Amino acid sequence: MPFPIHRPRRLRSSESMRRLVRETRLDPANFVLPLFVCPGEGVRRPISSMPPQAQMSIDVTVAECSEIEALGIGGVMLFGLPESKDEQASGAYDDNGIVQRAVRAIKREVPDLLVITDVCNCEYTSHGHCGLIVNGDVDNDATLEWLAKSALSHARAGADVVAPSDMMDGRVSAIRTALDANGFTNTPILSYAAKFASVFYGPFREAAESAPQFGDRRSYQMDPANAREAMREIALDLEEGADMIMIKPAMPYLDLIREARDRFDVPISAYQVSGEYSMIMAAAANGWIDLERAMMESLTSIKRAGADFILTYFAKPAAQLLA
Ligand code: PBG
Repeated sequence: MPFPIHRPRRLRSSESMRRLVRETRLDPANFVLPLFVCPGEGVRRPISSMPPQAQMSIDVTVAECSEIEALGIGGVMLFGLPESKDEQASGAYDDNGIVQRAVRAIKREVPDLLVITDVCNCEYTSHGHCGLIVNGDVDNDATLEWLAKSALSHARAGADVVAPSDMMDGRVSAIRTALDANGFTNTPILSYAAKFASVFYGPFREAAESAPQFGDRRSYQMDPANAREAMREIALDLEEGADMIMIKPAMPYLDLIREARDRFDVPISAYQVSGEYSMIMAAAANGWIDLERAMMESLTSIKRAGADFILTYFAKPAAQLLA
């Protein structure tokens, strides 16, 4: 007869009591802030669907990185907006590309801030797809070459971690081989291992100007209905040499974060994507939800599900709140 002997409310009676028995804690060290680097100087162009996020030129990005470091945030994830796009995504693997130059500038000015680079082609192709188009679809094996070249050029520029997000088969192995053959045996790969064809990337595609010009990404990103396949994708990427893995998006896929945590012993990250962020921001702007509490509860749920670190556009305000 548990009740009235057992009364779980006893441990919820005050903030000092709750604080003592709290199971999950957020730490700015486990946040990674995605940044969108654009050409020019002194540019800070607001992304209307993700306020107050903005596209920033390299100089502004570097200044932003100093603030990010001062807040104790774990690192940044860089996305690039190239000067021009083409069929071959040549801006993606150009040693003087936008991301490569940004990495060099950040590493020069803020050397201790962890810089992760997104390795993908969709921001660099004129059609917005993640690789070479052959007969109306992305050709897997031809795209691997671009990815390997991009990752290598990021590592050469000084990236601490490279993070392929394209969902081509075999990309981790292609990238590992290219890095190792060129002396970058110590550059880790964070694989977007289970990345779903999600509607919640909508605002990002405005931010990164990377919406596909025809069709969609369902022939390479995963079907939101598939959990077993997600575990298989993670296992394959680990076999190919991924050091860390990611589940993306985060909140609609908390079950998979938990399952991955229980099955795999590598660091697991989750990406709270643009749509997840913008929904909270929009509801808060309408006065329908409390912004700070929604932000912290969403991040806590992702960590509680088992994520070691979280890619989130809330990194700065959340770190400020935790300070
Ligand atoms: C692709 C990429 C995307 C995101 C991160 N990397 C978009 C896509 O796959 O269409 C989405 C991130 C977000 O929505 O915040 N390079």
